[in-house]
Amino acid sequence: MTLNAATNVTWHSGHVDRKERGNLLKQKGLTIWLTGLPSSGKSTIAFTLEHKLVKQGRLAYVLDGDNVRHGLNKNLGFSAEDREENIRRIGEVAKLFADAGIITITSFISPYRNDRNRARTIHQDSGLTFIEIFIDTPVEICEERDPKGLYQKARRGEIKGFTGVDDPYEPPVNPELVLKTEDKSPEQIVDSIFEYLNKQGYLSRTME
Ligand code: ADX
Repeated sequence: MTLNAATNVTWHSGHVDRKERGNLLKQKGLTIWLTGLPSSGKSTIAFTLEHKLVKQGRLAYVLDGDNVRHGLNKNLGFSAEDREENIRRIGEVAKLFADAGIITITSFISPYRNDRNRARTIHQDSGLTFIEIFIDTPVEICEERDPKGLYQKARRGEIKGFTGVDDPYEPPVNPELVLKTEDKSPEQIVDSIFEYLNKQGYLSRTME
């Protein structure tokens, strides 16, 4: 994909700043980036977290791999290049959502460290909080769960380049949180995320 094909474009600043939107919503936008193997539990955790936040009166929104690949990213497959472009777009969309004041939760395998780091950098460069959470479920457990039967298909050779079978996954080196999912309910895992968010003051209702 050609990068920087957009020439002769000029940034046009708006009249509403982040603080004004924060005061309107009584929250600060940020991105919670979930990464992990297929069937590690990312989507379940993301939607449980979103539900709990919304029930508390906070605007949260999940960008989920399978869902986004039905629309915005339906033209991308699973080659290393396409996965990179998938994550580049989601990094940018998450940044826009966080800038709009939304508690944005992304749930993508995002197998490559560099691609996740790029998403982190574009957030941090514009003063937005980026929280990387590694959903650390061992591949054997993911394969045992296999709710969509995709590991089985990959083992039978019906899917080529399936993450965890014949495609790589690079675990984060320095994530904000590492969460194990064995013997824990999604609610318990979400409670750990809340504990972290509260401790860091990310759920504060007042803008400084
Ligand atoms: S990512 O690697 O580019 O981050 P993403 O999270 O968007 O992947 O999509 C992963 C989902 O696509 C999986 O949950 C699975 O349902 C589906 N999928 C289809 N083919 C593959 C594949 N080859 N590797 C991994 N996931 C796949």
